[in-house]
Amino acid sequence: MRLLLILSIFSIWLFANDLNTCKGCHPIIVNEFENSMHKKSTIKEDKIHKAIWDKHPLKKKGDYTCAKCHTPNGSHSGITCLSCHTITNIKKHSKENENIYEKRDKYLYSAQKGMEDKKVVYKEESSWLGLFTKTVGSPYHDIDYTNKIFYNGEVCMGCHSHKKNSHGLNVCKTGNKGVRENGDNCITCHMPKVEGSATNIRISKKHAFHGFAGVINKPELLSKYIDIDYKNSNNGFDIIIQNKAPHNLMLQPLRVAQLRVTLTRDGKTENLKVHNFVRILGTKSKPSMPWLATKVLKDTMINPNEERVIHFNKELKKGDKIEAILGFYIVNPKMIKKLGLESDKKIKEFIPLKRGYFVVQ
Ligand code: HEC
Ligand code: HEC
Ligand code: HEC
Ligand code: HEC
Ligand code: HEC
Repeated sequence: MRLLLILSIFSIWLFANDLNTCKGCHPIIVNEFENSMHKKSTIKEDKIHKAIWDKHPLKKKGDYTCAKCHTPNGSHSGITCLSCHTITNIKKHSKENENIYEKRDKYLYSAQKGMEDKKVVYKEESSWLGLFTKTVGSPYHDIDYTNKIFYNGEVCMGCHSHKKNSHGLNVCKTGNKGVRENGDNCITCHMPKVEGSATNIRISKKHAFHGFAGVINKPELLSKYIDIDYKNSNNGFDIIIQNKAPHNLMLQPLRVAQLRVTLTRDGKTENLKVHNFVRILGTKSKPSMPWLATKVLKDTMINPNEERVIHFNKELKKGDKIEAILGFYIVNPKMIKKLGLESDKKIKEFIPLKRGYFVVQ
């Protein structure tokens, strides 16, 4: 009885500290993860999350419902390794989905090409009468490779699919077009294979990036999924933005994407009209906080897989140089003061994502 008690305290301790436990054998992945917004999804580490929570009506009641996705392993830690690797299934609901978690201790799910039907339990195999030993699997945990959701991206949908407020309005909606077996999905785009071994026990050349490329961390890794082109058209020219993501270019209603175009002629550079892409929520006719919103007031956001054409009324001449930069603000500049985020430099900056440069022939 006492042994059992000690054992269970031990395993709770391991659960709470799983980052340190995993670091011993997966140092590169843990280092990447420490810089990710998954790790920093808490009130303590994400200023924007804190700023919104501070205004949220549930705060007065002390009812931190955000925990379900932002701190799913309880206490004050953000998303951890186990928040994903122990998901068995996703339960779909109309308000927001839900992750169903594995109950067996140290039983993890993952994906690996060629292993789709295997469950790996640690073994030492000796051969030559015990002269040589070879190990299979991880000495710390079992690995189940048979869970399809780790291959097609469904594993992300418990938290990312959609989130409705109490008026039934979708505050964020990623949609499930990016859940796919063939071609790019949430995992291949946001966790590209990068240099470095997945474990320091069995050496591999590459591993899936665990910094989760996004708006805040490593947006540059995603720029290849956006194309910018130009063509001559009536009384001027068009800039064409192609969004290859299977979801809106930006998903949070706080974000603003922006196109900045300059024209250089005879050594002089002129700034052309700036275009913003937003999805603004509000009530009747005024923008509002997401929990109060009853409708979408304005939606110019670039849609999933859309090719958006933006016209400029400007006759071009041979030799003209056009530079077009698509970038974004993490928080709409009109909201920064309201949210008390003025002191954060990065939040105020325009962050370039993709540049197009054209010389008129
Ligand atoms: C004592 C060393 C050790 C510890 C501690 C450890 N692992 Fe592992 N893990 C391994 C080894 C070795 C492999 C590779 C097994 C193989 O290739 O057969 C592995 C594989 C994995 C895989 C599957 C990789 C794949 O092939 O897709 C995942 C996921 C994983 N570990 C997660 C974790 C997490 C999360 C923790 C912390 C809770 C953790 N590991 C702690 C040694 C360890
Ligand atoms: C159903 C899961 C879920 C719940 C519940 C949830 N969130 Fe989130 N939240 C997410 C996901 C996923 C993202 C990132 C995805 C995106 O940008 O669309 C996010 C991002 C955010 C961001 C943007 C963060 C940034 O760094 O810019 C804010 C702010 C935020 N959430 C606030 C809240 C607050 C406040 C609550 C609780 C009242 C809450 N969320 C509850 C899933 C959730
Ligand atoms: C347990 C819930 C949960 C799961 C599962 C989850 N996410 Fe997230 N994700 C979040 C939350 C919450 C945020 C926002 C954190 C913040 O900014 O405070 C987020 C943020 C992100 C971001 C934005 C990062 C940035 O730098 O702006 C990306 C990209 C992302 N997640 C991709 C994924 C992918 C891909 C998967 C599936 C492999 C996944 N997430 C699974 C909860 C989750
Ligand atoms: C073809 C590649 C591709 C696929 C597939 C894809 N994304 Fe994205 N994702 C992008 C691009 C491009 C952006 C925008 C650029 C950026 O965030 O820096 C983005 C942005 C995001 C963001 C940040 C948005 C914000 O406003 O904070 C989240 C969260 C995200 N994706 C989650 C997902 C999830 C979940 C899936 C699977 C359903 C998915 N993505 C599938 C390419 C992809
Ligand atoms: C947001 C969900 C999510 C979180 C959090 C997460 N992982 Fe993963 N991890 C995945 C997915 C999905 C894969 C499969 C990617 C693939 O093989 O393409 C994966 C793959 C792995 C692999 C195998 C990598 C390879 O390419 O061989 C290891 C090892 C691993 N994870 C360990 C960890 C550790 C350690 C942590 C915590 C620091 C962690 N994971 C946190 C979703 C996650």
